[in-house]
Order: sequence, then C-alpha cells, then structure tokens
Amino acid sequence: MFPLLALASLSTLATAAPASDSSSCTGTISSLDDVSTAVQCTTVNINAFTVPAGETFNLDLLSGTTVNVLGEVQFGNVSWAGPLFEVKGDDITFNGNGQLWDGGGPFYWDGLGTNGGVTKPHPMMKIEISGTLSDVYVVNAPAQCFSVSNPAALTITGVTVDNSQGNYPNSNSNGLPAGHNTDGFDVSANDLTIEKSTVINQDDCLAINRGTNIVFQDNYCDGGHGISIGSITSNVVVDGVTIQGNTVVNSQQAFRIKTDEVATNSTVSNIVYTDNTATNCTEYGVLITQSYPASLGTPGNGVIISDVNFSPGTTTLTAASNAYMVAVDCGEGSCTGTWDWSGLKTSGGEVGPMDNITVITGYTQ
Ligand SMILES: *[C@@H]1O[C@H](CO)[C@@H](O)[C@H](O)[C@H]1NC(C)=O
Ligand SMILES: *[C@@H]1O[C@H](CO)[C@@H](O)[C@H](O)[C@H]1NC(C)=O
Ligand SMILES: *[C@@H]1O[C@H](CO)[C@@H](O)[C@H](O)[C@H]1NC(C)=O
Ligand SMILES: *[C@@H]1O[C@H](CO)[C@@H](O)[C@H](O)[C@H]1NC(C)=O
Repeated sequence: MFPLLALASLSTLATAAPASDSSSCTGTISSLDDVSTAVQCTTVNINAFTVPAGETFNLDLLSGTTVNVLGEVQFGNVSWAGPLFEVKGDDITFNGNGQLWDGGGPFYWDGLGTNGGVTKPHPMMKIEISGTLSDVYVVNAPAQCFSVSNPAALTITGVTVDNSQGNYPNSNSNGLPAGHNTDGFDVSANDLTIEKSTVINQDDCLAINRGTNIVFQDNYCDGGHGISIGSITSNVVVDGVTIQGNTVVNSQQAFRIKTDEVATNSTVSNIVYTDNTATNCTEYGVLITQSYPASLGTPGNGVIISDVNFSPGTTTLTAASNAYMVAVDCGEGSCTGTWDWSGLKTSGGEVGPMDNITVITGYTQ
C-alpha cells in the first residue's frame, strides 16, 4: 500500500513537469495571427511585420518571458484611438535590439496633437511589465509615445523616441511644427528606472503623473518641454524621484513641476535633481508652478510640494537670453520642507518671479 502511494505521488510530479516544459518553447510572431500561440511560450521572437491599421499589437505574456525583437514593426495608418502596442507581464526581459517601431506620425500630424484635428492613436507604446525593457527604437509616434504603469520594479534602458521629423511644419499643420503632444514617457508607476534613453520630440521628455521611487538618469532630451513632474491632478501622490545625470537641450524648460491650479489632496515630495546639464532653455530653466495650465498665473494651494532639492551634485543650466533661468509660482503655504538649491548653477537669462516661496536656500545663480 505505502509504496503504491509513493508511486502515485511520483507520477503526479511527473505529469506536472511537462506542463511547465511546454511553455519553455519559442514562439514566433510574423503577423497578429501568430500572437495567441506565441504568448504560450516563455521565449517570444518578433519578426518584421506590419500591424493592420486600427488594431492593437497586444502581448499578454507569461511570467518570466524573454521577448526578442528581430525586425522592424510598422503600423497601418488609420485615424483611431489606439494604442498601437501594448505589453503586459511580470518579470519580462524585452530585448528591442535597436529594431525600429514606426508609428507613421506624418500620416496623422497636423500640429494639433491630441488637442484637436484628426484622432491620433495614443499612447503608441503601452508598457505594463516588470523586469527590463531595452533598446527599443521608436520613430514618428502619432502623439504620446510611451505610457508606463508597471506591476513591479521595471528598468527601461537604451530606448529611443525619435520624433525629430515632427519639428517641421507639414501641409496640414498651418505652419506649426507638425508633431504635437508627442510626450516621450508618461509615467504612473512605482519602482521605475528610465536610463540611457533619448527623446527628440515636441512635448514632455518625461511626465510623471503619479508614483513613488522613480529614477530618471543619464538620458538625453532634445527639443521638447523637458523633464516634468505633472501635471498633477487631484488625489495623487508623487514621492521619491531622482533626476540625475541627464542632458536637456533646446527645450522650453529643462526641469518643471506643474500642479493643476484646481487640484486638491495631492502631494509631491522628495524630489532630487543632481548632476544634470541643460542648454538653450527657451522659456524656463527651472519652473515650479502651481497655476497649471498657466506657467505663471494664480497659483492654487491644494497640492503640497515638499523637499525639492538641487543637491548634492551640480546641475548646470543655460537659458536663452529672453528666458527665465528659474521661476517659482507656489500657492500660499503649499511649498514646504527643505529646498536646498546650492547645486543649481544657472546663466543666460533672468531670474523670474519667485512667489510664495521662502523655503529655497543656497541658490546663487
Ligand atoms: C504610414 O504613413 C507614414 C507617413 O506617410 C509612412 O511613413 C508609413 O510608412 C505608413 N505606414 C505604412 C504601414 O504604410
Ligand atoms: C486623497 O487622496 C488619496 C490618494 O492619494 C485617496 O486615497 C483619498 O481617498 C483622497 N481623499 C479624498 C477626501 O478624496
Ligand atoms: C534653441 O532651441 C530652439 C528650440 O528647439 C531652436 O529653435 C533654436 O535654434 C535653438 N537655439 C540655438 C542657439 O541652438
Ligand atoms: C500666493 O498664493 C496665493 C494662493 O495660495 C495666491 O492667491 C497668490 O497670488 C500667491 N502670491 C503670489 C505673489 O503669486
């Protein structure tokens, strides 16, 4: 009796083993038809293919999956809401291998972004994984490019968003830059690092809408609206953000915190800027505003911003001659804590308004 039981439990083990083995296959995607089978495997290879217009390339992956992108991914062009690509899963290794993801931006661009004109699929790349996402190379996002909301710790490294073509007007944009609202990374995430990445665009390089423990380091932002926290709406928390070692060029602002004038019950705390460089800031070097969507308006005080530090390392910025190097537009009593700005070295423009702010120490230009 006893040996028989042992045998029975052994055979239970033996039948369990093939189940996990069966996912150790390699799935290959060369069209959307391949996706449902390929995602049964913990290795997924993506060949060059075109996603049909109006459909999302949606990868819902098994835990522990490795994705290898082996060819260019294009998307058929049609005006619709998107997203174009969506990926979900835990403990994912996503190797972009520098392959292009072409959003077809020029087909949609009309200078109006998501504020008007034709409906543009956005975000282009919806990332909901933990693990790592590396070497993904996106060109011509129709509007907002990456949105990131991870289930657990995620590192994004070596990613490119090249929307440089959107800097120029086209036949639909009435003389305006054709690309608009082409945010690089829109983030609502905890335990996220974005590093060694490049964004050339016409809106925020990074916009953190909420989240904790976020590091943005060694990135390059060109031509857009710089590195932003916000805009902050009601009932959200941003806590623990490190902006470090980044280079920001030719952008409206380099470093901005923007909270909606009407927002309430939100907090932004423990923000560290260190070892960054910014040149040719065309409107502001640093802008902290509680009057968003105005840059300098009538600030609200329903969002508490605390402990915003430009230290310990040096952040150097140069503003254009008609720009403000620094401007702060806080509501009464809503910018609090320790603001050590001794590492901020600015030149090139003027110091702008510094409203309702008594907490800043150490800033000497
Ligand atoms: C979509 O349109 C853009 C802009 O004209 C073009 O570059 C891209 O190749 C088109 N995509 C496809 C799949 O045809
Ligand atoms: C304030 O915001 C927090 C989230 O940060 C939320 O849990 C809470 O319900 C909000 N309070 C009110 C009164 O809305
Ligand atoms: C500064 O940046 C603006 C906006 O990107 C650009 O048009 C201008 O040419 C740049 N100026 C210099 C001196 O690089
Ligand atoms: C100070 O904040 C209050 C609102 O909290 C605002 O009405 C006032 O305009 C601010 N002061 C300045 C100089 O901006």
